[in-house]
Amino acid sequence: MDKSVLRTENLSVSAGKKSILNPVSLKIPGDGVFGIIGPSGAGKSTFLKTLNRLCELTPGLQINGQVFHRGVPLYHHGVDVDALRKRVSMIFQQPVVFPTSIFANVIFGVRHTETIPKKDWPDLAERALRQAALWEEVKDRLKKPGKELSIGQQQRLCLARSLATDPEIILMDEPTSALDPGSTEAIESLIHQLKKQQSIILVTHNMRQADKVCDLVAFIGLQDGTGTLLASGSLDELRSRNNIPGFEDYLCCE
Ligand SMILES: Nc1ncnc2c1ncn2[C@@H]1O[C@H](COP(=O)(O)OP(=O)(O)OP(=O)(O)O)[C@@H](O)[C@H]1O
Ligand SMILES: [Mg+2]
Repeated sequence: MDKSVLRTENLSVSAGKKSILNPVSLKIPGDGVFGIIGPSGAGKSTFLKTLNRLCELTPGLQINGQVFHRGVPLYHHGVDVDALRKRVSMIFQQPVVFPTSIFANVIFGVRHTETIPKKDWPDLAERALRQAALWEEVKDRLKKPGKELSIGQQQRLCLARSLATDPEIILMDEPTSALDPGSTEAIESLIHQLKKQQSIILVTHNMRQADKVCDLVAFIGLQDGTGTLLASGSLDELRSRNNIPGFEDYLCCE
């Protein structure tokens, strides 16, 4: 039986005549952290954004093939895309904080769906902020603007906003590349905690981080200028193989 939480089948992306991603067929297991590594411009972010159909918001991109979430096709006309993006939420490289209070940022997704009564919002916000290891730092200033927080705190705020909608899968696109070492470590230990409840798919350029947090990785390299899935498995397995095109070069440059 297929135990993958997400599975892509011949998933390819192009922009007009330019092929961005050659067909990818990949199974992503539900437990642990699945890393995506590879050189700049190989299509890692593009691939990640196909997994919750965020790619469709970029004009000019064509997506072919299919993504299955627990066996259910996501590229299908009956799919509720807003609900999908809550179940499969995304954290970006630069924290995306709205120009509202810390509290309003956390409950943004919840307020939007109106599924949880207003009286429950404070408890929910506290739980999400605790889960994101930010509660102690912000509990006395929840009404202050989210943008007043440091970048590292803003990234944890984004994580809290995502956690408030109780996602099943969190897509993270280089979530620590804009952060200082202390904030990076805070996010890495959070990933370690979160993976007990959530499936995490993490794009990272940082091999130390990949070693530390990823259970499995996929290496997307460039072949004739187009992103191509070249290998997947544990990082140790990939290192022990010596036939993955571009992998050694990638490792020595990172
Ligand atoms: N909307 C678009 N139209 C045309 N080309 C695009 C579009 N979006 C991305 N691309 C191209 O697709 C390729 C892959 O981009 P992507 O951002 O996915 O790479 P990446 O692996 O995430 O790189 P990095 O490590 O630098 O973040 C790049 O060549 C980029 O220029
Ligand atoms: Mg990217």
